[in-house]
Amino acid sequence: MHKKKNFYNDFKINIDENYFLKILKKSDVSEKYVSWLNDYEVTKFTEQKYYKHDFKSVLNFVQEKYISEKEFLFGIYFNNQHIGNIKLGPIKWEHKSAEISFFIGEKIFWGKGIAKKCIKKIIDFGVEELSLRKINAGYYQTNFASNKVLKKCGFKVEGIRKSDLIFENKRIDLILVGYIPNNN
Ligand SMILES: CC(C)(COP(=O)(O)OP(=O)(O)OC[C@H]1O[C@@H](n2cnc3c(N)ncnc32)[C@H](O)[C@@H]1OP(=O)(O)O)[C@@H](O)C(=O)NCCC(=O)NCCS
Repeated sequence: MHKKKNFYNDFKINIDENYFLKILKKSDVSEKYVSWLNDYEVTKFTEQKYYKHDFKSVLNFVQEKYISEKEFLFGIYFNNQHIGNIKLGPIKWEHKSAEISFFIGEKIFWGKGIAKKCIKKIIDFGVEELSLRKINAGYYQTNFASNKVLKKCGFKVEGIRKSDLIFENKRIDLILVGYIPNNN
């Protein structure tokens, strides 16, 4: 089972000539990274908005994911500049399935198709390198960018948790989506 150990030590996934993903470790935490997590515009469609983040809490989070056998926390990098994160996990190794979540903290990088490229690469990594056969995600009904990007990456709506969340004083749905590779 312990498949994660093969991917420590500055493991990188190249996206294209400018972008790459790498497993985050404590030395990658910066004030800029902390500031994204305290930016309502970045976190409003995630549960992170309910927490106050500081350097220490982010260090702890990164270290917890680094040592976890069930989670891969990747930083998204543009020419060595950390611009966001994408996480694969928790992974249910027994079931060959996993959750995926992501954000781009540097807002000038929104709408350039980066999330799409990163999600596709993580799917390939999960399916080809980790033998995963199912990848799940969930998003707020009001998160149109996630809706669009996940659809473009081949995710299909599998369920709607009606009225599960509160977003800006309104009750909204949680949309559950999943990706099943062809060779399932
Ligand atoms: C969600 C997020 C990662 C998308 O990243 P991205 O790199 O901008 O995504 P992409 O450029 O690959 O695709 C976004 C698509 O959604 C569209 N989009 C963006 N905002 C939108 C909006 N408010 N309404 C409708 N469509 C929107 C874009 O136009 C683009 O579509 P296109 O390719 O047809 O032009 C980014 O917006 C983000 O980090 N948001 C905050 C955190 C977050 O919501 N994380 C996901 C939690 S489930």
